[in-house]
Amino acid sequence: MVIKQTEAWGTRVGLILAMAGNAVGLGNFLRFPVQAVNNGGGAFIIPYLVCFLLMGIPLLWIEWSMGRYGGRSGNHSTPFILDNMTKRAFWKYFGVFGIFTNIAVAAYYCYIESWTMSYVWHSLQGTFVGLSQTEVAQFFTNYVDIGQSSTGIPYEAVVFYIACLALNTFILSRGLRGVERAAQIGMPLLILFGAFLAFKGLTLGTSGATAEVPDASAWDGLNFLWTPQYDSLANPKVWLAAAGQIFFTLSVGMGTIHCYAAYVRSKDDIALNALTSGFTNEFVEVVLGSLIVVPIAAGYLGMDWVKENAGFGMAFQTMPFLFEKWGPVLSTMAGVMWFGLLFFAGITSSLAMGTPWMGFMRDEFGWGRNKGAITFGLVVLALGLPTVFFFQYGVFDEYDYWAGTVSLVVFALAETILFAWIFGVHRGWDELKRGADIELPVIYRPIIKYVTPAMLSVVFLGSLFTPVGNEWQDAFASLFAGNGWQLDDSSLVNMVANTGLNKQIAAAIDVEQLQQLKDRKFYTNMARALLSLTFLGLCALVYVAGLRRARNEQNTTNA
Ligand code: ALA
Repeated sequence: MVIKQTEAWGTRVGLILAMAGNAVGLGNFLRFPVQAVNNGGGAFIIPYLVCFLLMGIPLLWIEWSMGRYGGRSGNHSTPFILDNMTKRAFWKYFGVFGIFTNIAVAAYYCYIESWTMSYVWHSLQGTFVGLSQTEVAQFFTNYVDIGQSSTGIPYEAVVFYIACLALNTFILSRGLRGVERAAQIGMPLLILFGAFLAFKGLTLGTSGATAEVPDASAWDGLNFLWTPQYDSLANPKVWLAAAGQIFFTLSVGMGTIHCYAAYVRSKDDIALNALTSGFTNEFVEVVLGSLIVVPIAAGYLGMDWVKENAGFGMAFQTMPFLFEKWGPVLSTMAGVMWFGLLFFAGITSSLAMGTPWMGFMRDEFGWGRNKGAITFGLVVLALGLPTVFFFQYGVFDEYDYWAGTVSLVVFALAETILFAWIFGVHRGWDELKRGADIELPVIYRPIIKYVTPAMLSVVFLGSLFTPVGNEWQDAFASLFAGNGWQLDDSSLVNMVANTGLNKQIAAAIDVEQLQQLKDRKFYTNMARALLSLTFLGLCALVYVAGLRRARNEQNTTNA
């Protein structure tokens, strides 16, 4: 096969920043603190670190190796990277996940990214000055309730969403240089802004306590997160949450790492690069991510409030109100830094989500950068507008569940089996060692072969059959007593069947609630149909690409 001349990363620092930017994202600042609080704070950290060591690092090494290996024979996206590693044709359809997940995640991820753009603007405008806590929260509710915008900009959320996608498309159209440049600007600024806000979180102490909240203390927030609790080690619920966070935050099981690594020159190091970007992500997540939202909110509202209200919306519904306590200049600065930090975290990740599609269309259909970037923007827009317009009906959550959670685990499990058992851990390990700037710890070879796939299987089965109330001990006791296994409505099996929603519909107390729930079910099913169509459309493209490759090979043989 003729290997097409493609781009490569400009510098090693650029590559590491782009890879770290891919990993460091909204998940570090919005998802991590919420997961940590909801899973018992210090109880979460140990399973989280174990998952990082036994699943995160192996998956990083697997994906970097697969990517560089694929890039050597001109493959820059997962369908044909996987195809190249085995003789069995069906593996390329597993590779579809590595394009699909990115498009589907980008659809809702860019929506959050667009909120951050808008909130930077509103912080500069002084929109939050003088608003009560309820009013700041209401501002967000109005913002996402399209058509209700209280700022005077009609359809503001849609306007910012389109602007955000246009910016992503523009940078992607500049190719790897554009992505590298965005990371070189975004990552240092993100760390600078994060360091400022973390300093405030660290030094707030009990100065935010008031007569209404006399117990408020930022130290409580920090202690809650950083006092290890060993009893959680026996709780599968915490392990599942920790594993999910590791996937999302490192962007493993997505396809972006393979794609970026496919542009690494074949003799350049990947072993140390993978570790450097992985540890950068962990520093940003564990250190910066835990020093901002939780301690600042605990410092003014008390840790009990944080535990009760921990949620993804806190960043938008509460933080602007708390910043106002720092006086006019500092509050504006803090707002710009907080939402600016989120914006840089978001865009360096969403740009990575565009590259697998562009790499695929370029390899298989000869599309140039502009065509690749514009079509990515349009497909994401088409898939993303339902998350914008029907946010309140759960479309956003549905995308997050199927694309941002389930798909990552399925793909990570499949690629680990392929790498360790079909391609072979010997060949895989040799590939990883090629050009390595570090001595690889040999213990990771059996880990990659046995431990990582075993842990991934447990995570997958655990999600498939989550027992009622997430109470595993009770579930096993019930099973051994011959009373069966009761599934929770959050288990994958019941999610597929919409069991939870159907129960709610059956229990609706009035016509209005019944209608709301029916609407929710309609939009949930619509979201699933759209995601399925996207997946099938990509499978069709991969099928056509496979035929084209076969034809080209035939022509080359005949010639
Ligand atoms: N890894 C990216 C994040 O944490 C997707 O947001």
